[in-house]
Amino acid sequence: MKRAIYPGSFDPVTNGHMDIIVRSADIVDELVVGVLNNHAKNPLFSVDERVSMLKEITKDFPNVTIASFDGLLVDFMEEIQATLIIRGLRAVTDFEYELQIAQTNHIVNPKVETIFLTTSLNYSYLSSTIVKEIASYGGDISKFVPVQFVDRIYKKYKECEL
Ligand code: PNS
Repeated sequence: MKRAIYPGSFDPVTNGHMDIIVRSADIVDELVVGVLNNHAKNPLFSVDERVSMLKEITKDFPNVTIASFDGLLVDFMEEIQATLIIRGLRAVTDFEYELQIAQTNHIVNPKVETIFLTTSLNYSYLSSTIVKEIASYGGDISKFVPVQFVDRIYKKYKECEL
């Protein structure tokens, strides 16, 4: 049984993330989407909000679960007994960083392997950072994130302004 983790910040989850979740859930037996509780990054959504959004959007996928983690990814993988990491590659610019963390994780724990899925062309430009930039100026983000989260993202920026 292959249990994989798709780790990330998911602040917020985008259609690009969903593309990777759907495709990797089809490849592995169990997929855990791991939301990094990264205090340093000052996220727009709290870790609980990000977990809850991901739970909502993946509720119809029987082999997908959502969890948050702190600290090293390899330690969390040991805890949940996962050996595969899934990451999406959008462009060659992602590669250097991704190669570095994949190799580091493998050296720290040789049982850990990383599988890269190339992002679908429709989403190769997309990132949570771009979504946040557009939303912060009130631009249209409806093509970039699951439809049920569009208003939640705008609302978050309104709350921040208060
Ligand atoms: O969505 P992101 O921000 O690109 O995801 C980055 C993530 C969460 C995969 C990466 O930062 C990570 O694994 N962080 C956990 C800490 C860790 O294990 N670091 C060692 C890798 S060198």
